[in-house]
Amino acid sequence: MISRNNNYFLFDTNHTTYAFRVMESGQLEHIYYGNRLNIDMKQENMNRIFEPFIEKKKFLLGNSISYSKEQDKIGLEDLCLEMSSYGKGDIREPFIEIVYPDGSCTSDFIFESASIRKWKDSLKTLPSSYAYEKQVEELNIVLKERNHDLRLHLNYSVYPECDVIVRSSKLINGMNDVVKVKRLMSTQLDFEDSGFVFTSFTGAWIREMNRSDHTVTSGIHVNQTMAGFSSSRANPFVMISSPDTTESYGDCYACNLIYSGNHYEALEVNPYGKSRFVSGINPRGFLWKLNPDDEFEAPEAVMTYSSHGWEELSHRMHEFVREHIVRGEWKYKERPVLLNSWEAAYFDFNESKLLKLAKSAKDLGVELFVMDDGWFGKRDNDTSSLGDWNVNKKKLPGGIKGIADKVNALGLDFGIWVEPEMVNEDSNCYREHPDWAVKIPGQDHSLGRNQMFLDLTRKEVREYVIDSMTNVFADGNISYVKWDMNRIFSDAYSVGLPAECQGEFYHRYVLGLYEVISTLVERFPKVLFEGCASGGNRFDLGMLCYMPQIWASDNTDAICRMTIQQGYSYGYPLSVISAHVSDVPNHQTLRKTPLSTRYHVACYGILGYECNLTELSKDDQNVIREQISIYKEWRKVFQFGDFYRIKDGSVIDQHKNPTGSYQWLSVSKDKNKAVLMDFQSRVIPNLVYNKVHTRGLAEEKEYHFYNIAKKINIKEFGDLVNTVSPIHIKKESITQHVVSKFVKLDEEKEDYIIQGVNLNRLGVRLKQSFGATGYNDQVRYYPDYATRMYFMESVE
Ligand code: GLA
Repeated sequence: MISRNNNYFLFDTNHTTYAFRVMESGQLEHIYYGNRLNIDMKQENMNRIFEPFIEKKKFLLGNSISYSKEQDKIGLEDLCLEMSSYGKGDIREPFIEIVYPDGSCTSDFIFESASIRKWKDSLKTLPSSYAYEKQVEELNIVLKERNHDLRLHLNYSVYPECDVIVRSSKLINGMNDVVKVKRLMSTQLDFEDSGFVFTSFTGAWIREMNRSDHTVTSGIHVNQTMAGFSSSRANPFVMISSPDTTESYGDCYACNLIYSGNHYEALEVNPYGKSRFVSGINPRGFLWKLNPDDEFEAPEAVMTYSSHGWEELSHRMHEFVREHIVRGEWKYKERPVLLNSWEAAYFDFNESKLLKLAKSAKDLGVELFVMDDGWFGKRDNDTSSLGDWNVNKKKLPGGIKGIADKVNALGLDFGIWVEPEMVNEDSNCYREHPDWAVKIPGQDHSLGRNQMFLDLTRKEVREYVIDSMTNVFADGNISYVKWDMNRIFSDAYSVGLPAECQGEFYHRYVLGLYEVISTLVERFPKVLFEGCASGGNRFDLGMLCYMPQIWASDNTDAICRMTIQQGYSYGYPLSVISAHVSDVPNHQTLRKTPLSTRYHVACYGILGYECNLTELSKDDQNVIREQISIYKEWRKVFQFGDFYRIKDGSVIDQHKNPTGSYQWLSVSKDKNKAVLMDFQSRVIPNLVYNKVHTRGLAEEKEYHFYNIAKKINIKEFGDLVNTVSPIHIKKESITQHVVSKFVKLDEEKEDYIIQGVNLNRLGVRLKQSFGATGYNDQVRYYPDYATRMYFMESVE
């Protein structure tokens, strides 16, 4: 709820409060963001009510600046503010930076008006969060620049149920002259103290979302990218926590941007011990010419707070993303289990090879077959044909419709891969329209994966992309589209923009992209779109406003995926994280992990397969058939349940977590079902004890806790089987092979009825794992990289 009384503004969500006021000087003082307060905003004398909460400054020290002659006790350098402009004494990270026609850069935005409405307006140029009427209120503050006819709008949308506040800003030029916008942030959050841990998620291709923590006690820590996209280098989702924060304890804030371009998040500590956080479009490489009567919109920033640690923080973000970002047909629809052809065939396929794959996929229970890269132009490798979206008739004589119909006839949906933003030099598109590619005329340009960007800042290029994709998507019964993008920017320049507007290029590209995608998504509302950018190079809330899921990483190695998917889980729900089971040795790392581990990790996301199913052993095929059928039964819990990081194996702790164990838990919304995975990075000999416990189960409910015991191949025990075998079985011999076909060992079984409260607090002490001597069905076969899944179902 948003309340205003005089100069005081206060928002209450179910569990948090946010408050600020208009100071005597006209600037906005930030008063509070934290656990819910109890302030009666209907009282008459608000000054009296708020007096204890505002900053008291009666004199300024030393060489700091006093704001004005009339307001000589106000020094902007050391106040918590809602927004800060550059040049009147506040020398911290500014919210806005403008160059005026006379070359001056000092701004002074002061309060002019405020209005509250009972609905949420969409941004005009950018994707934004949405809500149905009455779910959300919005406050619009208008600030006027003291010396120029410029107005800055600060918007606050309050989402009570998810405890989220969304901020955005807009600058309107009422002058007769052009101004240049050097920076316009989306949000600013000032804290009265410092020493926070600033958490960002950084990485690279096949190494996305590594969590890194920096304690900021002085100076500034920045998370940003100039890749042109939100990028795998630095995701825009960040957290700011008090140093003692854990999953279930501590004060923490999270912020994410609804934007897919260059972004910037900074936490700065000033010399007086106050902290300032800003987030928005990266000012580097950005300069926007704002003409008279024009306006410029900054993207929305999503903020939440919890006093109970990262778990609650994540839950609030997850709920928000599911409910107010993802939209359309697939919002809450269970996502199909797919088979993707990429790691199964790469570019080397034809119709019959694909159909063979699809047939085996259907046989194992897959629901959607996806034809990845290689189906168009002369695309036999990554050097050619991007831009030429006509089918390769040698590979697919019946065209897209031909293969789609045949796949449909097998009882599978059909999906297709495209990379519409790109062009290869070796393509008809480039030969006919070399000026459509992003490059600087007369200069050599750099390639990335042999390709260049199509200049989506230009209308005719956007139209070409929209038309060619419309033709592809309408050319057969296509249920799913994987929208890829496989390089970062270089040589940023558009021949469609005048010299003085080249600083607008990056942002205009993103706007162009959004226009293209929104047109296509509206044109094909039933299609399930999956975002992808060399894996997670554009995993952000901007894309999620159009595409309900994103391919998290080109790395399908289950061990790497533990880190990557856990990284995403801080800010994104499992329903948007796509994850596949692939072959071993893994194609990115050459690591061999058990099939069950690959499956268990991929279950905590949207499960798919990406390997040549036709060449797997019968045993593995049978295992996969069972995996898929279990996933289908449980996928609502995986995809839309509440996710808990029970144990984090990324830090091996000699005492608390010597085996590098991860435990992930998903609990259904009604708390009737839960599923927990335990993963072990490394065996510690003679340390055979393990335990799992839950969080978030209904305390009063009784649960049936069980695992689904598999059969173990005797080959896993190598030479050791000879300690019990009546005949000698030589390792890797034909005898071993034959015996292994008929003799299987039973996995241990856990089967209990336990009350929720006891599962949450005490948990289950598992059967001991193998430790040099003895094995039977009471012992857990648990080598390096092993996992177990434990299911919980409430019983009447
Ligand atoms: C990118 C994607 C992969 C695959 C290839 C095809 O790398 O992330 O999943 O589609 O392109 O070229």
